[in-house]
Amino acid sequence: MMKFASPLIDEATIEGVADVLRSGHITSGPWVERFEAALSLFCEGRPVRVVTSATAAIEVALQLCDIGPGDEVITCAQSFFTVLNMIVKQGATPVFVDCDLVTRNIDLAAVEARIGPRTRAIVPTHWPGSLADMDALYRLARERGIRVIEDAALVIGSRYNGRPIGAIGDITTFSFHPNKNMTSIEGGALVVNDAGEARRVDVLRFHGIERLADGTRDVAFPGGKFNLPDVNARIGIEQLARLPGFLAHRRELVVRYFERFPARFGCVLPPRPVEGDGQSWNMFCILLPDGPPGSREAFRDALAARGIATGVSYEALHLSTLGRRFGYQRGDLPNAERIAGRTVTLPLHAAMSVDDVDRVCAACEQALDAVSP
Ligand SMILES: Cc1ncc(COP(=O)(O)O)c(C=O)c1O
Repeated sequence: MMKFASPLIDEATIEGVADVLRSGHITSGPWVERFEAALSLFCEGRPVRVVTSATAAIEVALQLCDIGPGDEVITCAQSFFTVLNMIVKQGATPVFVDCDLVTRNIDLAAVEARIGPRTRAIVPTHWPGSLADMDALYRLARERGIRVIEDAALVIGSRYNGRPIGAIGDITTFSFHPNKNMTSIEGGALVVNDAGEARRVDVLRFHGIERLADGTRDVAFPGGKFNLPDVNARIGIEQLARLPGFLAHRRELVVRYFERFPARFGCVLPPRPVEGDGQSWNMFCILLPDGPPGSREAFRDALAARGIATGVSYEALHLSTLGRRFGYQRGDLPNAERIAGRTVTLPLHAAMSVDDVDRVCAACEQALDAVSP
């Protein structure tokens, strides 16, 4: 079975992990500090703190921005459940807006229309192949003193106006889940604005414990426990060094998808890569043409029967049971809903070959023939 996502771990990394295990210091320690320093360098010197997942990073980021009951957070309905969950977990109200059908990035005109007196933050998810329009986003946010938490789980390595994502903006969060551009098994990071915010993250990610001047410890609120172990950081460092190679290979595979994917069925593809566009490719998501209920599942089954695994990214958050609690219903956000019903994530990862892409495209052609009316 060809996986739709898979990490690439080399022998040097496995040796490095073995060394950490032998060292006797396996939870957060020197390797975490080194991983944070390497990530900070990658983000042009901005402070970075690593945590156990991007989910934890978003939770800590919302806490860092003092988001709580009574606050509204504007976010896009086309994203992973994490974003909805963490906003609600803080006691805040998610305000969903739609996305672009092709890029899947947040609709900034809709964001502007939904900004109100209780809006405290905007949480856009950046998509592979194209980032949210950061100039417009920050113009909106900064004029009104609204915080921005960029969910960059899918796009570490993408560039905006030539600069790496994470080097610009307010708070940026990354994921190092094995499906992402680089991994630390599980893991995530937040890029913050200054040393003061980084110190607050240190407290928020470790029980809320403050060390007092007299050497004693105290907690003033119920903090979480999100510190990344050194074993994971050791993997992350190695992966970060290999990231440019992973991204170049992923891009080569995407270029091949554009060459070989059958055009005659009218699937909507992501934005076509353009030389020097600075975009990274974590996923290759296609949108099937409209069809009868169950035809997406039939398409996925037909690919599975040919040994090709696929995914669905993502459901429409506002139509989840949790999302509906805030009064949303079908028809509110048409693009997010259409994507949720017709999207399929095809295999794309650094361990694949160009021949694998050809195999997927040939299988897609057969499967689309089989399910087309
Ligand atoms: C867009 C997006 N944001 C956040 C996350 C959460 O990442 P993690 O699994 O590291 O918590 C994911 C996970 O797949 C994601 O796809």
